[in-house]
Amino acid sequence: MEVIIRPTTAQAVELTARLLADTVKAKPACKLGLATGATMEAVYDVLVKMNKAGEVDFSQVTSFNLDEYIGLGPDDVNSYRYYMNHHLFDHINIDKRNTHLPNGLAEDELAEGINYEADIEDAGGIDVQLLGIGNDGHVGFNEPGSSLSSRTRAKSLTPVTYRQNCVYFNPPESMPKRAFTMGVGTILDANRVILLITGARKAEIAARAIEGPVTSMVTASALQMHPNTVVILDADAAAQLTLKEYYDWVFANEPKWKNYR
Ligand code: GLP
Repeated sequence: MEVIIRPTTAQAVELTARLLADTVKAKPACKLGLATGATMEAVYDVLVKMNKAGEVDFSQVTSFNLDEYIGLGPDDVNSYRYYMNHHLFDHINIDKRNTHLPNGLAEDELAEGINYEADIEDAGGIDVQLLGIGNDGHVGFNEPGSSLSSRTRAKSLTPVTYRQNCVYFNPPESMPKRAFTMGVGTILDANRVILLITGARKAEIAARAIEGPVTSMVTASALQMHPNTVVILDADAAAQLTLKEYYDWVFANEPKWKNYR
């Protein structure tokens, strides 16, 4: 796990967007794993600007999102399909037929998970998976206690997640209490993972995920077992890390970060 701390949120977002854009430039038909949440909105803003400026071409990209609320259709403003169209897909030259999210209205939940896994496999797997982290340490909607080898499936959300996300719903009680999510095992199969963590409210969970023990109680900690994960934080989110000096040293000295400093 590499850890990169940038002084401001804007710089952390910019670095994340550049890494994604560079993936697409190096492999135009790449498979991107995408995430939702407030943190990602700024990343997608940067990617939209880059696409409009002709700096990155998404025409051959295929995408797979991490998760979707069970019970919400694509036209529901709180569905993650709606979020992705609204924040990214409607504004870039991606072919929407190549964008995938679990179907929140699927009647056969077991089959939906199995089919989503098969679609990822048929596409050749995910080149780069973008991730945020929930207040309870989840990646996707892999809540505490999720198997670290889990695959895409239906999952009950925790009260912590419910409280974090219900503010986006009107009324708040209309938020679904279950979701489809890629499993931790699905995420660990990606060739590369980029986890973006910003803001002071994530400082404690960031430290537990990055420097604490690998545990299903903080599913993001499973990324410590992944051979090619970079965690990008702003200074506020990095406040409780103990090895900050080392992380800065690596960013300053590793040749591969030269063009990103
Ligand atoms: C949701 C998503 C997660 C995301 C999290 C963080 O719970 N399922 O994939 O990481 O939100 O959200 P935010 O960026 O709003 O803090």
